[in-house]
Amino acid sequence: MPSSSSPVIVSIGGGKGGVGKSTLVANIGAILCSEGSRVGFIDADLGGANLHLCVGVRRPKFTLADYLGGRVKELSAVAVETMVPNSWLISGASDILGLANPKYAQKRKLLNNIGRLDADFILVDLGAGADTNVTDFFAAFPFGIVVSDSLPTSIENAYGFLKNATLRGLSRLFAPQSVFRHQLYRFADPGSKGGVNSVEELLSQVEREAPEETKRAREWLAGRGTFLVINMVREREDVEAGRKFADIVKKYLSINLFYIGYVIQDPKMRKSQKAMRPVVTMDDAAAARECFRAITRNLRTLTKGEAPG
Ligand SMILES: Nc1ncnc2c1ncn2[C@@H]1O[C@H](COP(=O)(O)OP(=O)(O)OP(=O)(O)O)[C@@H](O)[C@H]1O
Ligand SMILES: [Mg+2]
Repeated sequence: MPSSSSPVIVSIGGGKGGVGKSTLVANIGAILCSEGSRVGFIDADLGGANLHLCVGVRRPKFTLADYLGGRVKELSAVAVETMVPNSWLISGASDILGLANPKYAQKRKLLNNIGRLDADFILVDLGAGADTNVTDFFAAFPFGIVVSDSLPTSIENAYGFLKNATLRGLSRLFAPQSVFRHQLYRFADPGSKGGVNSVEELLSQVEREAPEETKRAREWLAGRGTFLVINMVREREDVEAGRKFADIVKKYLSINLFYIGYVIQDPKMRKSQKAMRPVVTMDDAAAARECFRAITRNLRTLTKGEAPG
Protein backbone atom coordinates (compact mmCIF):
# COMPACT_ATOMS: atom_id res chain seq x y z
CA MET A 1 0.00 0.00 0.00
CA PRO A 2 1.47 3.42 -0.86
CA SER A 3 2.40 5.61 2.11
CA SER A 4 0.14 8.61 2.59
CA SER A 5 2.51 11.31 3.86
CA SER A 6 5.96 12.32 2.67
CA PRO A 7 8.80 10.15 3.92
CA VAL A 8 11.12 10.94 6.80
CA ILE A 9 14.55 11.03 5.17
CA VAL A 10 17.58 10.24 7.31
CA SER A 11 21.12 10.19 5.99
CA ILE A 12 23.87 8.18 7.67
CA GLY A 13 27.51 9.21 7.53
CA GLY A 14 30.51 9.39 9.77
CA GLY A 15 33.71 10.17 8.01
CA LYS A 16 35.63 7.02 8.78
CA GLY A 17 35.32 3.84 6.72
CA GLY A 18 34.22 0.58 8.28
CA VAL A 19 32.64 2.00 11.46
CA GLY A 20 29.33 0.26 10.77
CA LYS A 21 27.21 2.76 8.80
CA SER A 22 25.71 0.21 6.41
CA THR A 23 25.17 -2.29 9.23
CA LEU A 24 23.25 0.34 11.19
CA VAL A 25 21.16 1.34 8.15
CA ALA A 26 20.20 -2.29 7.44
CA ASN A 27 19.26 -3.08 11.04
CA ILE A 28 17.32 0.13 11.74
CA GLY A 29 15.47 -0.38 8.46
CA ALA A 30 14.61 -3.99 9.27
CA ILE A 31 13.22 -2.98 12.69
CA LEU A 32 11.14 -0.14 11.23
CA CYS A 33 9.69 -2.60 8.68
CA SER A 34 8.90 -5.15 11.38
CA GLU A 35 6.90 -2.41 13.13
CA GLY A 36 4.79 -1.83 10.03
CA SER A 37 6.62 1.02 8.32
CA ARG A 38 7.59 0.99 4.67
CA VAL A 39 11.31 1.64 4.31
CA GLY A 40 13.46 2.76 1.40
CA PHE A 41 17.19 2.06 1.48
CA ILE A 42 19.38 4.27 -0.67
CA ASP A 43 23.06 3.60 -1.12
CA ALA A 44 24.50 6.98 -2.02
CA ASP A 45 28.05 5.63 -1.94
CA LEU A 46 29.04 5.95 -5.57
CA GLY A 47 32.60 4.83 -5.05
CA GLY A 48 32.22 1.59 -3.10
CA ALA A 49 28.57 0.65 -2.79
CA ASN A 50 27.81 -2.39 -0.67
CA LEU A 51 24.57 -1.72 1.18
CA HIS A 52 22.85 -4.22 -1.14
CA LEU A 53 24.94 -6.98 0.45
CA CYS A 54 23.55 -6.04 3.90
CA VAL A 55 19.93 -6.49 2.79
CA GLY A 56 20.21 -9.69 0.79
CA VAL A 57 20.61 -8.34 -2.74
CA ARG A 58 23.52 -10.09 -4.41
CA ARG A 59 23.49 -8.25 -7.71
CA PRO A 60 21.09 -5.32 -8.06
CA LYS A 61 19.36 -5.24 -11.45
CA PHE A 62 19.53 -1.43 -11.52
CA THR A 63 21.68 1.07 -9.65
CA LEU A 64 21.77 4.80 -9.08
CA ALA A 65 24.19 4.98 -12.02
CA ASP A 66 21.34 4.02 -14.39
CA TYR A 67 19.36 7.00 -13.13
CA LEU A 68 22.21 9.54 -12.90
CA GLY A 69 23.44 8.44 -16.32
CA GLY A 70 19.96 9.00 -17.80
CA ARG A 71 19.34 5.38 -18.88
CA VAL A 72 16.37 5.12 -16.54
CA LYS A 73 14.17 8.21 -16.36
CA GLU A 74 12.28 7.64 -13.11
CA LEU A 75 14.13 7.30 -9.82
CA SER A 76 11.50 4.86 -8.54
CA ALA A 77 12.26 2.56 -11.49
CA VAL A 78 15.78 1.77 -10.22
CA ALA A 79 14.46 0.51 -6.85
CA VAL A 80 14.69 -3.24 -6.29
CA GLU A 81 13.19 -5.55 -3.68
CA THR A 82 15.26 -6.66 -0.70
CA MET A 83 15.02 -9.61 1.70
CA VAL A 84 13.41 -7.27 4.26
CA PRO A 85 9.64 -7.38 3.67
CA ASN A 86 8.03 -4.00 2.91
CA SER A 87 11.28 -2.35 1.87
CA TRP A 88 13.04 -1.40 -1.35
CA LEU A 89 16.62 -0.55 -2.20
CA ILE A 90 18.19 1.89 -4.61
CA SER A 91 21.70 0.58 -4.92
CA GLY A 92 24.83 2.63 -5.33
CA ALA A 93 27.36 1.96 -8.02
CA SER A 94 30.98 1.09 -7.69
CA ASP A 95 32.00 0.27 -11.21
CA ILE A 96 30.99 3.33 -13.21
CA LEU A 97 33.89 5.62 -13.99
CA GLY A 98 33.23 9.29 -13.40
CA LEU A 99 30.17 8.83 -11.24
CA ALA A 100 32.02 8.89 -7.95
CA ASN A 101 32.07 12.67 -8.41
CA PRO A 102 28.64 13.68 -9.62
CA LYS A 103 28.09 17.31 -10.53
CA TYR A 104 26.00 19.48 -8.24
CA ALA A 105 23.17 19.47 -10.81
CA GLN A 106 23.10 15.66 -10.76
CA LYS A 107 23.03 15.67 -6.97
CA ARG A 108 20.22 18.24 -7.04
CA LYS A 109 18.17 16.10 -9.42
CA LEU A 110 18.55 13.17 -7.08
CA LEU A 111 17.78 15.20 -3.96
CA ASN A 112 14.67 16.72 -5.51
CA ASN A 113 13.24 13.34 -6.33
CA ILE A 114 14.05 11.31 -3.22
CA GLY A 115 11.22 12.92 -1.24
CA ARG A 116 8.67 11.71 -3.83
CA LEU A 117 9.48 8.05 -3.37
CA ASP A 118 6.97 5.77 -1.69
CA ALA A 119 8.09 5.07 1.89
CA ASP A 120 7.54 6.10 5.51
CA PHE A 121 11.28 6.24 6.12
CA ILE A 122 14.12 6.58 3.64
CA LEU A 123 17.59 5.75 4.97
CA VAL A 124 20.42 7.15 2.87
CA ASP A 125 23.78 5.41 3.43
CA LEU A 126 26.45 7.95 2.53
CA GLY A 127 29.54 5.81 2.57
CA ALA A 128 32.88 6.91 4.01
CA GLY A 129 34.62 10.25 3.67
CA ALA A 130 33.99 13.90 4.51
CA ASP A 131 34.39 15.47 1.09
CA THR A 132 31.70 17.63 -0.47
CA ASN A 133 30.05 14.74 -2.31
CA VAL A 134 29.22 13.15 1.00
CA THR A 135 28.63 16.23 3.14
CA ASP A 136 26.33 17.92 0.58
CA PHE A 137 23.97 14.98 0.94
CA PHE A 138 24.20 15.05 4.72
CA ALA A 139 23.46 18.79 4.82
CA ALA A 140 20.58 18.50 2.35
CA PHE A 141 18.37 16.30 4.53
CA PRO A 142 16.78 17.55 7.74
CA PHE A 143 17.82 14.45 9.69
CA GLY A 144 21.21 12.77 9.84
CA ILE A 145 22.98 10.15 11.90
CA VAL A 146 26.71 10.29 12.41
CA VAL A 147 28.27 6.92 13.24
CA SER A 148 31.62 6.41 14.91
CA ASP A 149 33.39 3.92 17.08
CA SER A 150 34.93 5.24 20.26
CA LEU A 151 38.54 5.36 19.04
CA PRO A 152 40.21 8.77 18.67
CA THR A 153 40.79 8.47 14.92
CA SER A 154 37.12 7.75 14.22
CA ILE A 155 35.93 10.47 16.60
CA GLU A 156 38.26 12.95 14.91
CA ASN A 157 36.91 11.95 11.50
CA ALA A 158 33.32 12.21 12.72
CA TYR A 159 34.04 15.74 13.96
CA GLY A 160 35.58 16.72 10.62
CA PHE A 161 32.61 15.22 8.84
CA LEU A 162 30.09 17.23 10.91
CA LYS A 163 32.13 20.40 10.58
CA ASN A 164 32.30 20.09 6.79
CA ALA A 165 28.61 19.25 6.54
CA THR A 166 27.70 22.27 8.67
CA LEU A 167 29.88 24.60 6.61
CA ARG A 168 28.47 23.23 3.35
CA GLY A 169 24.90 23.54 4.60
CA LEU A 170 25.41 27.09 5.85
CA SER A 171 27.28 28.25 2.76
CA ARG A 172 24.52 26.93 0.46
CA LEU A 173 22.06 29.28 2.19
CA PHE A 174 23.84 32.35 0.83
CA ALA A 175 25.10 33.75 -2.44
CA PRO A 176 28.82 33.22 -3.20
CA GLN A 177 29.67 36.93 -2.76
CA SER A 178 27.78 37.43 0.50
CA VAL A 179 29.43 38.64 3.71
CA PHE A 180 28.38 35.45 5.41
CA ARG A 181 29.99 33.09 2.93
CA HIS A 182 33.18 35.04 3.10
CA GLN A 183 33.23 34.81 6.90
CA LEU A 184 32.57 31.07 6.81
CA TYR A 185 35.99 30.49 5.35
CA ARG A 186 37.51 31.94 8.51
CA PHE A 187 35.95 29.14 10.46
CA ALA A 188 36.92 26.56 7.87
CA ASP A 189 40.52 27.54 8.47
CA PRO A 190 40.83 28.58 12.15
CA GLY A 191 44.63 28.75 11.92
CA SER A 192 44.47 31.58 9.41
CA LYS A 193 44.74 35.25 10.36
CA GLY A 194 41.51 36.29 12.08
CA GLY A 195 40.29 32.67 12.12
CA VAL A 196 37.53 31.74 14.56
CA ASN A 197 37.15 28.59 16.61
CA SER A 198 33.44 28.01 16.78
CA VAL A 199 30.27 28.54 14.80
CA GLU A 200 28.87 30.65 17.65
CA GLU A 201 31.93 32.92 17.63
CA LEU A 202 31.46 33.37 13.91
CA LEU A 203 27.75 34.10 14.18
CA SER A 204 28.17 36.68 16.92
CA GLN A 205 30.89 38.43 14.94
CA VAL A 206 28.82 38.77 11.76
CA GLU A 207 25.53 39.47 13.53
CA ARG A 208 25.85 43.28 13.38
CA GLU A 209 27.05 43.36 9.79
CA ALA A 210 24.57 40.79 8.46
CA PRO A 211 21.68 40.36 10.90
CA GLU A 212 19.27 38.74 8.44
CA GLU A 213 21.81 36.22 7.22
CA THR A 214 22.80 35.38 10.79
CA LYS A 215 19.18 34.82 11.72
CA ARG A 216 18.70 32.50 8.77
CA ALA A 217 21.84 30.59 9.70
CA ARG A 218 20.66 30.14 13.29
CA GLU A 219 17.26 28.94 12.08
CA TRP A 220 18.87 26.42 9.75
CA LEU A 221 21.05 25.07 12.56
CA ALA A 222 18.12 24.87 14.99
CA GLY A 223 15.84 23.19 12.45
CA ARG A 224 18.03 20.15 11.91
CA GLY A 225 18.00 16.86 13.76
CA THR A 226 21.48 15.40 14.04
CA PHE A 227 21.98 12.14 15.88
CA LEU A 228 25.00 10.24 17.14
CA VAL A 229 25.51 6.47 17.35
CA ILE A 230 28.65 4.94 18.83
CA ASN A 231 29.28 1.47 17.41
CA MET A 232 31.43 -1.50 18.46
CA VAL A 233 31.25 -0.64 22.13
CA ARG A 234 33.23 -2.93 24.46
CA GLU A 235 33.19 -1.10 27.79
CA ARG A 236 31.56 1.75 29.66
CA GLU A 237 34.32 4.14 28.65
CA ASP A 238 33.34 3.68 24.99
CA VAL A 239 29.78 4.77 25.76
CA GLU A 240 31.13 7.81 27.60
CA ALA A 241 33.18 8.79 24.54
CA GLY A 242 29.88 9.49 22.76
CA ARG A 243 28.70 11.83 25.48
CA LYS A 244 31.95 13.76 25.45
CA PHE A 245 31.86 13.99 21.66
CA ALA A 246 28.28 15.31 21.68
CA ASP A 247 29.30 18.03 24.16
CA ILE A 248 32.22 19.13 21.99
CA VAL A 249 30.04 19.24 18.89
CA LYS A 250 27.44 21.36 20.68
CA LYS A 251 30.11 23.75 21.91
CA TYR A 252 32.06 24.26 18.69
CA LEU A 253 29.57 23.57 15.93
CA SER A 254 26.32 24.83 17.50
CA ILE A 255 24.67 21.56 16.49
CA ASN A 256 22.31 20.02 18.97
CA LEU A 257 23.67 16.50 18.60
CA PHE A 258 21.35 13.90 20.17
CA TYR A 259 23.19 10.82 21.36
CA ILE A 260 20.54 8.25 20.38
CA GLY A 261 22.40 5.12 21.38
CA TYR A 262 25.30 2.73 21.06
CA VAL A 263 25.78 -0.74 19.62
CA ILE A 264 27.94 -3.27 21.35
CA GLN A 265 30.66 -5.21 19.60
CA ASP A 266 28.84 -8.40 18.64
CA PRO A 267 30.63 -11.45 17.19
CA LYS A 268 27.32 -12.53 15.60
CA MET A 269 27.67 -9.68 13.13
CA ARG A 270 30.08 -11.77 11.11
CA LYS A 271 27.50 -14.48 10.57
CA SER A 272 24.96 -11.88 9.58
CA GLN A 273 27.34 -10.44 7.02
CA LYS A 274 27.99 -13.85 5.52
CA ALA A 275 24.25 -14.50 5.33
CA MET A 276 23.74 -11.02 3.78
CA ARG A 277 20.96 -10.27 6.25
CA PRO A 278 20.57 -7.74 9.06
CA VAL A 279 21.37 -9.48 12.35
CA VAL A 280 18.02 -8.40 13.86
CA THR A 281 16.20 -10.54 11.26
CA MET A 282 18.13 -13.71 11.97
CA ASP A 283 19.00 -13.91 15.64
CA ASP A 284 16.65 -12.91 18.43
CA ALA A 285 19.40 -13.50 20.95
CA ALA A 286 22.04 -11.31 19.29
CA ALA A 287 23.37 -8.89 21.89
CA ALA A 288 23.36 -6.01 19.42
CA ARG A 289 19.63 -6.48 18.77
CA GLU A 290 18.46 -4.56 21.83
CA CYS A 291 20.87 -1.76 20.96
CA PHE A 292 19.44 -1.44 17.44
CA ARG A 293 15.92 -1.50 18.87
CA ALA A 294 16.67 1.30 21.33
CA ILE A 295 18.26 3.41 18.60
CA THR A 296 15.28 2.85 16.29
CA ARG A 297 12.87 3.82 19.06
CA ASN A 298 14.73 7.08 19.63
CA LEU A 299 14.96 7.77 15.93
CA ARG A 300 11.24 7.25 15.42
CA THR A 301 10.39 9.52 18.34
CA LEU A 302 12.77 12.29 17.31
CA THR A 303 11.83 12.30 13.62
CA LYS A 304 8.11 11.55 13.69
CA GLY A 305 7.29 12.39 17.27
CA GLU A 306 5.62 9.02 17.68
CA ALA A 307 6.14 5.85 19.68
CA PRO A 308 6.56 2.54 17.79
CA GLY A 309 3.32 1.31 16.20
N1 LIG B 1 28.56 -3.75 16.43
C1 LIG B 1 29.34 -4.51 15.65
N2 LIG B 1 29.96 -5.60 16.17
C2 LIG B 1 30.75 -6.37 15.39
N3 LIG B 1 31.00 -6.15 14.10
C3 LIG B 1 30.43 -5.07 13.53
C4 LIG B 1 29.56 -4.19 14.26
N4 LIG B 1 29.11 -3.23 13.41
C5 LIG B 1 29.68 -3.49 12.21
N5 LIG B 1 30.46 -4.59 12.27
C6 LIG B 1 31.25 -5.17 11.18
O1 LIG B 1 32.21 -4.20 10.75
C7 LIG B 1 32.40 -4.25 9.35
C8 LIG B 1 32.14 -2.89 8.73
O2 LIG B 1 30.76 -2.59 8.85
P1 LIG B 1 29.99 -1.75 7.73
O3 LIG B 1 30.24 -2.30 6.38
O4 LIG B 1 28.60 -1.61 8.20
O5 LIG B 1 30.77 -0.37 7.89
P2 LIG B 1 30.63 0.95 6.99
O6 LIG B 1 30.85 2.09 7.90
O7 LIG B 1 29.37 0.92 6.23
O8 LIG B 1 31.85 0.76 6.01
P3 LIG B 1 32.18 1.60 4.67
O9 LIG B 1 32.77 2.89 5.16
O10 LIG B 1 33.16 0.75 3.97
O11 LIG B 1 30.90 1.81 3.93
C9 LIG B 1 31.48 -5.34 8.85
O12 LIG B 1 32.21 -6.52 8.73
C10 LIG B 1 30.43 -5.46 9.92
O13 LIG B 1 29.85 -6.75 9.99
MG1 LIG C 1 29.03 1.09 4.16
